[in-house]
Amino acid sequence: MLNFTEISYDPSRIVGRYLADAQLNNLLPPLEQARQEVMEEVALWDSGAAVPADKQPLDAGFVDLPQRILDDYRQDRQGSELGRILQTAERLRDQVDTVVVTGIGGSYMGTRALFEACCHPYHNQLSRETRDRRPRLFFAGDNVDNDALAGLLDLLNEGSWDQPADRWAMVVISKSGGTLETAVAFRLLLEALANRGGGQPAELSHLIIPVTGPAGKLFELATALDCPDRFLIPEGVGGRFSIFTPVGLLPAAILGLDVVALLEGAVAMNERFRQAKPSDNPVLQYVAVCHWMEVEQGRDVRVLSTWGKSLEAVGLWYDQLLAESLGKEGRGALPLTVVNTRDLHSRGQQHQEGPRDKLITNLIVDQVRRDHLRISRSDLNQDALNELAGKSLPDIMRAAIQGTNLAYEEDQRPTADIHLPRADEPALGQLLQMLMLATVLEGRLIGINPYGQPGVEAYKRHMNEFLRR
Ligand code: PA5
Repeated sequence: MLNFTEISYDPSRIVGRYLADAQLNNLLPPLEQARQEVMEEVALWDSGAAVPADKQPLDAGFVDLPQRILDDYRQDRQGSELGRILQTAERLRDQVDTVVVTGIGGSYMGTRALFEACCHPYHNQLSRETRDRRPRLFFAGDNVDNDALAGLLDLLNEGSWDQPADRWAMVVISKSGGTLETAVAFRLLLEALANRGGGQPAELSHLIIPVTGPAGKLFELATALDCPDRFLIPEGVGGRFSIFTPVGLLPAAILGLDVVALLEGAVAMNERFRQAKPSDNPVLQYVAVCHWMEVEQGRDVRVLSTWGKSLEAVGLWYDQLLAESLGKEGRGALPLTVVNTRDLHSRGQQHQEGPRDKLITNLIVDQVRRDHLRISRSDLNQDALNELAGKSLPDIMRAAIQGTNLAYEEDQRPTADIHLPRADEPALGQLLQMLMLATVLEGRLIGINPYGQPGVEAYKRHMNEFLRR
């Protein structure tokens, strides 16, 4: 029995119009076969048996991980991995007021997505009391931008280390442990932390929480620093599929998010993916529509149209997921995140009248968190807003969504909707798992291995050559 509402996928403006019922029915057998293949891969991975060469790399470990983490936690609240994550988060919340998450790609984008979707939009600007001791969160290591890191160091060097409000710690995340951007930022931040107040090795080691694979340079650094709290990214979970490992769970716990609800959301989506009949299965339906629109209608730009500001980073996380997973062998749809209504004033023109190469999926939050702000009546009515007096911002948002969908529909521009009941942990758990499952499912459907990202190595090789010349 779920204690939260399910998210939904609604392709009703597409099915029957761009995709006939009969065509959808024809798509379902290959999709069911691909689902079967994905589930067999999960079982293979879970069994620990050798992975055949034609399946490598196989990072199917992400699928059942949320359930396993929850089971372990329910059996051992203190000693389980999630128990340790929660204890570390609590310790950090007592000792520091700022945490820098250092990582790139899959080692940071999921955390940013959760932070922006679930926390107060001005979290970092709120007082420590208003934040209920939840530390401010900053990101580093996601670039080699000199001035951005120098600016962060300015901020971290402010105030007096004696004051808890001025102390900071670092969660450094890298699965390989050798990513240059992360390594460089970590070295500079480590230096700053040692100079600052964490100068004593014992204190320093408590202020650094490494999250990494079971071997590699970061693992060795963590050992040399003797960090008492460190977490492992399990084998068989690729970077962009790692949000439900300590990669995402530790920062989420530090922010005071309900990580159990997040994991329960992911588990609920697994169940729907496995059990629900195709007509009721958000993962199968989503892939059917995206795939059909791409191969039969040439809509190979996938716009994730987020309505509201808090979901932009979810879109950026999905950009990486789709691009790195399916952008291979000269194929793969182009992901594009937009934030509306903001981008109706920038990209909207092109989406309405530009090339017919786009499928727009709206990401809609049904219920806002805060009391509705309403337009008041005013004696200063030069803006003519009195005729809308009483309307709330959610009323205006709803009208914008309906109006935009209608405008696109009138010009045969296809749109579908994903609805989140709220932007909260259960909904985000469901959504992120849905999109990860969909990406893997589509990969198997079209014969592309969704795991691994061999194309990312080329730039690294050349960058290193230039650096060492
Ligand atoms: O999806 C992936 O595996 C990549 O995007 C990685 O997350 C990214 O390259 C960072 O790698 P690492 O965590 O090894 O530093």
